[in-house]
Amino acid sequence: MVKIGVFDSGFGGLTVLKEIIDKIPQASTEYYADNGRNPYGVRSRETIQRFSRQILDFLGTKGVDIAVIACNTATAASLPDVEPDYPFPIVGVVGAGAKGAVAATKNKRVGVIATEFTVRSGAYSRAIEELDPEIEVVGQPAMPFVKLVESGVTSGDEARAVVREVLAVLEDAGIDTLVLGCTHFPLLASLIGEVMGPGVTLVDPAEETAYETLSALTAMFPHEKLGRDAAVMSAEDSPAIHRYYTSGDPQVFARLGTAFLGKDIESVDGVT
Ligand code: DGL
Repeated sequence: MVKIGVFDSGFGGLTVLKEIIDKIPQASTEYYADNGRNPYGVRSRETIQRFSRQILDFLGTKGVDIAVIACNTATAASLPDVEPDYPFPIVGVVGAGAKGAVAATKNKRVGVIATEFTVRSGAYSRAIEELDPEIEVVGQPAMPFVKLVESGVTSGDEARAVVREVLAVLEDAGIDTLVLGCTHFPLLASLIGEVMGPGVTLVDPAEETAYETLSALTAMFPHEKLGRDAAVMSAEDSPAIHRYYTSGDPQVFARLGTAFLGKDIESVDGVT
């Protein structure tokens, strides 16, 4: 059975894993959450690359056929530098987010909320500009959102107040599209949507990332039936196995991860 490795600094990558399980129900997955070392978004490129390599090495030992960096920060810091060092292809999330933004914007003014590192790296500005040089990108760091999600606070007054405060600067930016440029942020999408209002389309790179992963796997395994259309069985009946690893507390991961994924996480291995 085809095996997909997925990693993030914490819970955010589950937003991508969810789409992968939905779109590629016949693949098993290995998900690594670096909860013990996040946030990545305030770290240096060198450190983030080192963490990415450690986790890719780990996923390699699990025999993955492809790896998905379900973290914008690690994608911006590590791809394409690390890819040549691995025997499997590596998919990131920034290209998918840029594609979604270009498809959604009408007034060619796009906001990107992300970690400090991702905004500073200019990865989104470059990726969007490559697709459409007329689009203006307004980047806004939103690190407090990572903390909210990591502590399981994704609704209610406390989260609403933080979201309002961080997004206030985008009020007069004239954007019609906002990229959720950190995989933790879709878990706050309803509050972000409420604050930005109906005139702003939110772009979540997760679904497009799952499709990119599916098309890479289809090219590698042309005879395997991988996609939802091709699958005879539904995701629920699939014999696929989904394993989880965290550098944080396995019990906390199982509890919050189950809530975020909307699917039972039965066993989590603690790793260092
Ligand atoms: N989920 C990560 C991303 O997509 C970042 C969270 C962190 O700062 O650790 O960028």
